Amino acid sequence: MSFLRRGSLPWSMVLVLGLAACRGAEPFEPVPSGPRPIRGAVVCEHPLASAVGVEILEAGGNAADAAVATALALAVVYPQAGNLGGGGFALWVPHSGEATALDFREVAPETAMPDRFRNAEGEVDPELSKSGPLAVGVPGSPAGLWALYQTHGSKRLSWQALCEPAIRLAEEGFVADSFLEAGLRSATVRRRMQRSPAALSLFYPGGIPLIRGQRVVQPELADTLRRLAEQGPDGFYRGLTATLLVQEIERQLLEAEDPRSWITSTDLEGYEVRWRDPLRGVFRGREVVSMPPPSSGGIVLLQVLAVLEGFPVAAQLSDSRIALRGVERDGADPGFNPRILHWWIEALRRSFAARAEYMGDPDHVQVPTEELLSPGWVARCRLSIGEQAMPSIAPFLPEPPPEGPQTTHLSVLDRGGNAVSLTTTLNSSFGAGILVEGAGFLLNNEIDDFAHQGGVPNQFGLVGSEANGIAAKKRPLSSMTPAVVRRHDGSVELVVGSPGGPRIITSVLAVVLRTLMFDQDLETAVTAPRFHQQWKPERTEFELGWRPGLLEGLDADHGHPLREVDRTWASVQAIGVLDNGEPVGVSDPRRGGAARVEER
Ligand code: DON
Repeated sequence: MSFLRRGSLPWSMVLVLGLAACRGAEPFEPVPSGPRPIRGAVVCEHPLASAVGVEILEAGGNAADAAVATALALAVVYPQAGNLGGGGFALWVPHSGEATALDFREVAPETAMPDRFRNAEGEVDPELSKSGPLAVGVPGSPAGLWALYQTHGSKRLSWQALCEPAIRLAEEGFVADSFLEAGLRSATVRRRMQRSPAALSLFYPGGIPLIRGQRVVQPELADTLRRLAEQGPDGFYRGLTATLLVQEIERQLLEAEDPRSWITSTDLEGYEVRWRDPLRGVFRGREVVSMPPPSSGGIVLLQVLAVLEGFPVAAQLSDSRIALRGVERDGADPGFNPRILHWWIEALRRSFAARAEYMGDPDHVQVPTEELLSPGWVARCRLSIGEQAMPSIAPFLPEPPPEGPQTTHLSVLDRGGNAVSLTTTLNSSFGAGILVEGAGFLLNNEIDDFAHQGGVPNQFGLVGSEANGIAAKKRPLSSMTPAVVRRHDGSVELVVGSPGGPRIITSVLAVVLRTLMFDQDLETAVTAPRFHQQWKPERTEFELGWRPGLLEGLDADHGHPLREVDRTWASVQAIGVLDNGEPVGVSDPRRGGAARVEER
């Protein structure tokens, strides 16, 4: 694995570092000579939204157009995570030309200061960043989707045309599914929504949670979308929508008896997206493109791929294949042995430790991205991995709570060979649980992604340092990992991403490794059982379904603290392109999404 970063190092230097960093893999500049896919595809977490995306492709839109329309549709039919009131990241990877990364992450308002989250004793109150007004960051999604359309949309379809399907779904309604029903059954979601009469009346009509089969009609959201359609981002960040949002925050502050302000019209008017250079690495002859800070996803993904590329994984695989002769293996297990998993976990542990220590919003703190992706870091990391697990001896930390469906990801490919990989979130399921009265959309609780106190874990059990402390106009560190893999000829091979908090990173990584290193087909790679390691807590969690004996070996031979848990996580939405150009869409069966390929 080697790393290419546009504009960061002279090309010759990258070449030298690249060769030093990885054995055998040659850095390359993809040339767009490869074939284009024979059809476009859209994969996301709701079938109605996938259908909208494909409709746009078939109407002549490109991947950016389809991604925008799909994301807007998700804001209507998937209120757990699809959003106008949240934020996210998107990669634009064209068939020819430079890949770019769009950061439409929420920002902390101008009045944000660490002491807003402390009680009279000076201790951080962890609830303040998860529910109520202070949990809400200035939304980035409307500006982000507009920027994606403006910069990369085909212009064969107007902005209004991309908003239209979402408006229709909000106005005419859609039928609630079991995922919406399950989400609303969560006691935490219901408790958070107690502060928001508008949310309660939409999601708990007559005090009863919506159930599958019920039609959900959202006229106020339709009006909000219409203002966005007619005026672009001004229809959200200024005028009636902005006024309603600010009034909602003021009402929430009043109820919380907080005399200070939080999101103001100045914050909304001042929101700006950022175009960033994506991180690019070479892994097994392909280019892996992913998100730079303020997401940690790209760095951790590329670090672990680089570390693992230097271990003799293939030899271990064949060893284990020999050892496994006679043992029935299912398709999800390419012949793993405990040592392979041990390397994989230890690499993650070290990367997540670096995440906690060094990563934050690059507009506010200096993130040592270059160093963290340097051959030196990779080599040191690899050398430090011995035969035994090395959990740190830090104090015990509370367990991360189980997560529900929250963030959401969509992958789009058009027949021109352009790809969009877009992850967007309200953070928790239904965000802060606050629906803007009169405007019909939910607000995020992204402020919990800041590290409010060193060593104190957030809702995902993640710890952080000053690098990710809250400050005015700062973006909280994220784990969202939209990624695109390109072949040597520049053609897109994989578009991938997922929800799942820090589990996003480990799930995206697993799919990349399973397809590119372990030669599994995409469906197998997405459905296969997962594990998660994030430095703190020390133990590694495994989904059920691993081959008998494997985890016992990891414990006995390598000393890994581990736990099998009877739940699943993340929801990978991926498009692979076969050598003949045929796209294969896979929506994680762990949730209710849908993959759609163009029919003509
Ligand atoms: O940006 C982040 O890392 C988190 N706000 C993502 C939250 C998430 O993925 C929850 N999803 N299931």
